[in-house]
Order: sequence, then structure tokens, then C-alpha cells
Amino acid sequence: MERQTTSVKVIKLEKEAKDNTLVFCFFKDKLVFSKSLEELDRNLDNAISNPIKNKHFKGEKSEIREVYAHKHMKNILLVGLGEEQKLTFDVLKNIIADASKKIRNNGAENFSIFLDSFTSNRLNEADVIENLVLSSLMGMYQFTEFKTKDRDKIKNVRQITLITNSNKNFDSQIRYASVVADAVNKTRDLVNTPPNIATPEFVANYAKELARKSGLKCAVFDEKQVEKMKMGCFIGVAQGSANKPRLVVLEYNGSSKKPIAIVGKGVTFDSGGLNVKPYPYILNMKDDKGGAVAAMHIIEACSKLKLPLSLVVITPLCENMIDAASYRPDDVLKAYNGTTVEVKNTDAEGRLILADALSYTLSFKPQAIIDIATLTGASFVALGYIGTPFLTTDEKLRDRIKSASEKSLERMWELPLWPEYEENIKSDVADIKHLSEEGDAGVIIGATFLKNFVGDVPWAHIDIGTTVWSKVEKGILTKGATGASVRLVLEMLRNWK
Ligand code: BES
Ligand code: MN
Ligand code: ZN
Repeated sequence: MERQTTSVKVIKLEKEAKDNTLVFCFFKDKLVFSKSLEELDRNLDNAISNPIKNKHFKGEKSEIREVYAHKHMKNILLVGLGEEQKLTFDVLKNIIADASKKIRNNGAENFSIFLDSFTSNRLNEADVIENLVLSSLMGMYQFTEFKTKDRDKIKNVRQITLITNSNKNFDSQIRYASVVADAVNKTRDLVNTPPNIATPEFVANYAKELARKSGLKCAVFDEKQVEKMKMGCFIGVAQGSANKPRLVVLEYNGSSKKPIAIVGKGVTFDSGGLNVKPYPYILNMKDDKGGAVAAMHIIEACSKLKLPLSLVVITPLCENMIDAASYRPDDVLKAYNGTTVEVKNTDAEGRLILADALSYTLSFKPQAIIDIATLTGASFVALGYIGTPFLTTDEKLRDRIKSASEKSLERMWELPLWPEYEENIKSDVADIKHLSEEGDAGVIIGATFLKNFVGDVPWAHIDIGTTVWSKVEKGILTKGATGASVRLVLEMLRNWK
């Protein structure tokens, strides 16, 4: 998979604009022109100011007016931001993403955005630039790998130019946003890749290649090695599949401090197993590897950004299938840390493979563990498509997630890990069972089970069961895999002290 790349640069405002597509954003209540913008407008025979004067463009939130300046062969997009006092980065990023999609669909190969038309004390220019670049690159994502017809008609923007009046070059913001957008879009690519292709072996080879290119340490354990390591829960889930499991460990050493561990659920297809998922719930179950794939691109981005920390990423990769050899409800599995687990529903497989991966992670003596998993459908009941539930045993991790959520604009909401829930996973025959048959508090029960495998290490669980996938093409969202948690966790790591 080779991604089409879009380069981004910043230049100083000039009297003339070189690109053929020009974007000007305006506040509804601040339709004013700076000196330099006035001059540019004059050189374009008032193509920017005319629609404002004759009220064809009012600057309403999300309004997009396209004007074509024939003589100059310029397509001009006037983009409305609404009232200045009401504009948030959340609104801005979706407006910019929608405008970028429109430009891409028009067939333009490059465009310029003028930052001069919407300066505001409320918006720091460096943050504006970072958000513009990230949202534009995320909004224009498309997955075309498996389209064989009319490939020459696939449209791509190759260059974005930000035109500013400032003397700064904003290199670090552009670098950060480009690396993060790349991590999000590569995560989307691999999560979107169909399950007959993206098997555990395929994803493990992908990780090897990613490690080779970015200088990460990489170890891949195959089925026999995983069996030898006595990862009984992981093996239990994987044993019904022709496509054999892999355990991938990636390491980045950017400091001598204890590593931060990220564990990602990598079920390349979740049929439900013997508790098979009925149609239509079985659809999109290729997205069940979303946590693992996100984790791999998070560590790649960390090494590209040379963040001053150490990271270990651990991803159990397998399928959950139906076969004569499949594990069954009522089976008792022995986890890597010795805990015996009674299986009650083979469709709750994610927590089983994570149980072994989490306790294996303890051997790296991590300062904190974050797991990312498409663990439950119950996450849909909790927060719908809008936000991602998280649970944690540690106050500091809670603060890190909350502030990264605000900055990255990935909405996160905490659910409790009250000890009373532990009652619900007591087993009559084994140490614990992996769910509560009553189906109560699905997200919390999943996390309550996982808590048994993280020792005393500060731990947070992120359940992207719902937010991993989008049914809509809107703003920064594109249909299909979303790259959920990549922006959030990178924002956490960027500020880690
Ligand atoms: N991968 C699913 C969770 C999921 C379901 C994600 C739908 C996205 C959309 C997970 O393995 C699963 O099947 N969980 C079960 C757990 C239940 C049996 C306790 C669920 O949520 O229904
Ligand atoms: Mn399942
Ligand atoms: Zn699953």
C-alpha cells in the first residue's frame, strides 16, 4: 500500500496568488479586508469582495460559495466561519475538511488557503495552522486500493499552500500535523483492507516492514511460540482459524526512562466464533483490528517525531472463527499470568487476547499501559458515534487523556471502575469469567475483566468499538475506518513528562 502524499508549505502573502484554487475564510461579523487582501482582490478584479458586497456570501457557519474569476482562471472559495466569538477548533476543522473535499472533487491538484482573512485573538495562528493541515489531510482521505476501473479518474490534491502575513515559518506545526495525518490515514488504509487479505500474518509482515523503514525494534512470535509462552487465552481464541495468530512487539527508544506500553486488539476478522454474529452484525468485522493498527502507527509517528520517550507496542493478532477446533462457551482457559478464565460467549474474544497481551506487557516494566480495543458493541449504547469511552486506574492518566482529548478534538468520556462490578465476573468453576451473562454495563465489565491482567501498573483502557468506523462522509470523517485514538494518543505522548 503506497499512499498518495500531499505536501504542505507556508508562504508569505503576495500581491498575486499562484494556485488556481484559492480559499478565503471569513467570520460572519468580521467581513473585513486587510491591506494586502485588498490589493489581491483588486488584482482579481474584485472577485473576492463582489459576492460579499452583493450578499451572495454572508460568512454563515459552514457556508461555501464558489466563484470563478474567468479572466484570471481562478476558482475562489469563500468559506463562512459564522460568528467570531462562537468559532471553536472543532467547528473550524470540519469546515476546512469539507472545503478540502469539495476542492478535491472539483479535480484541483493544489490550493492555497489565506490565513489573513480570519485572524482573531481567540485563535492562535500556530494552532490554526496545525488544525487546518490535519483536518484537510484527514478530510481528503479516500480508500481506492481495490478499485480497478478508471484509476486515472481518481482525484488527488498534491499540494496545499498556507498563505500568511506572519514572518514565522510554522515548520514544527506542519511537521506534526503531517505526521499525525499520515498515521491516521495509514491506520484507515490497513483497517479498511479486507479480511481475506489483512490476515494476522499480513498485518505482522506490515509491522515488520514499518519497523524496518522507521528503525524500530520488532519481534514477531508465531503460533508455536505463543503456545510455548503459555498464552492460553490468546491461543483459545485463535485455535479455530486457518490463518494462524501472531504476536507483534514493536519498540521505540527515545529516552532511558521506563517505556510507556500500548496494547492493541488485533482481531483481523471477528465472526463471533461459535456464538456467531448474525447478519448484519457480522459486517465490517474487519475493523476489529483497529486498536492494533492504530498502535502500530502511533509508534511509527513517535519515531518520526523523535519524541523523547520510550514506547513498546504489543499487538496480539488473530481471527475469531468457527471450526471443529474452535474454543467453546464453558471452556476454561489459562491465561499467561496463570489466572483461569471461564468462557461464556466466544464473541467476547477481544478481552481474552488482551488479557495475555497485557500481562505479557508487564515484563517490559512499563511506567503506564494504555490499551486500545474495539472491545464492545456496548460502547454504542454508552456514547454513540460521537465519543469514545475510557476507563482508568490512575489519576494522572485520566488527566492526560482528558487534556489530550480537548487538544486533539477526539471526544473521550470516562466510565467508572467501581469495585462492585467485580462481583459480576465471579465464576463458579474458574478464577473469573470474562463477562456478565446479564449483559449489564458492557463497556465497564469488559474493562473490569482486563483489570485482572495489569498488575499495579497505571492503566487506561480505550474502547473504540463504535468510533473505529464511520457510516458518514462528513468533515474530517470519511466513510469506513476513522483512525480513532491515533490523534488522541499522539497528543498524550507529545506532552508526556
Ligand atoms: N468486536 C466486538 C465488538 C464490536 C461489536 C465492535 C460491534 C464494533 C461493533 C467484540 O468482540 C464483541 O463481539 N463484543 C461483544 C461482547 C459481548 C459478547 C459480551 C459485544 O459487544 O456484543
Ligand atoms: Mn467479538
Ligand atoms: Zn471482537
